[in-house]
Amino acid sequence: MTTSAPTSTPATADGIELRLTGARAGYGPVEVLHGLDLVIPSGRVTALLGVNGAGKSTTLRVLAGLVPLRSGTLHWRGQAITKMSALDRARRGLMLVPDERAVFASLSVRDNLMVVAEATARPGSTPDITPALEAFPRLRERLAQRAGSMSGGERRMLALARALLARPSVLMVDELSLGLSPKVAAELFEWLGTVARGGTTVILADQYTDAALGLADLAYVLHRGERSFVGDPAELAHA
Ligand SMILES: Nc1ncnc2c1ncn2[C@@H]1O[C@H](COP(=O)(O)OP(=O)(O)O)[C@@H](O)[C@H]1O
Ligand SMILES: [Mg+2]
Repeated sequence: MTTSAPTSTPATADGIELRLTGARAGYGPVEVLHGLDLVIPSGRVTALLGVNGAGKSTTLRVLAGLVPLRSGTLHWRGQAITKMSALDRARRGLMLVPDERAVFASLSVRDNLMVVAEATARPGSTPDITPALEAFPRLRERLAQRAGSMSGGERRMLALARALLARPSVLMVDELSLGLSPKVAAELFEWLGTVARGGTTVILADQYTDAALGLADLAYVLHRGERSFVGDPAELAHA
């Protein structure tokens, strides 16, 4: 697969992209994260692993600003962003590709890409969807197709392609492989590796798959909203 990575941003002096400290968060009366601490290194792939319900998606939503912290702090490149809105975080390059395939089902592939290209084009430049098509050549054959009529894998590619066009500095991907064939999942993992090698910080929430463990530089395992492991993913592969 031909791949191209987003424009990189230089790593921070201390090598830390995001630092989440003492995070408590949840939904209504239910607390899901019970004081979670995470340090996410810049320009690397960090995996958040754990069984269903462990709190992986909630953690990504907290980082994206979609679920508020009830207590604790979040720093991005040394700056407190605990109170920054999800929109401002996204505008500054903190992007979440959620586990439900986030594309406009009724729009064509081209229009799905154009919406993002227009919103994120640099002043004075023409919106350009070419980087997305270079990263995912299969989408080129589908430009006129309605996104809702594509396969799960193709919609996943489209969601990633949309994120790519926004030139993220942090790309968070929830359950990349969910519902995909191992072959398609492997292709998408390979693409994420390329993105990280281009300098983008990648965070993926996933199950204990060989693909996720093989790609990650650092792994966290969540268990009921708390951290049960942090370290080298290779240690988990042999666990
Ligand atoms: N939108 C929501 N409203 C209420 N509870 C939720 C919501 N999303 C997740 N939860 C609950 O939060 C807990 C953690 O879920 P989640 O963060 O989705 O875990 P994971 O992604 O690891 O499967 C689960 O008990 C789940 O039922
Ligand atoms: Mg989840």
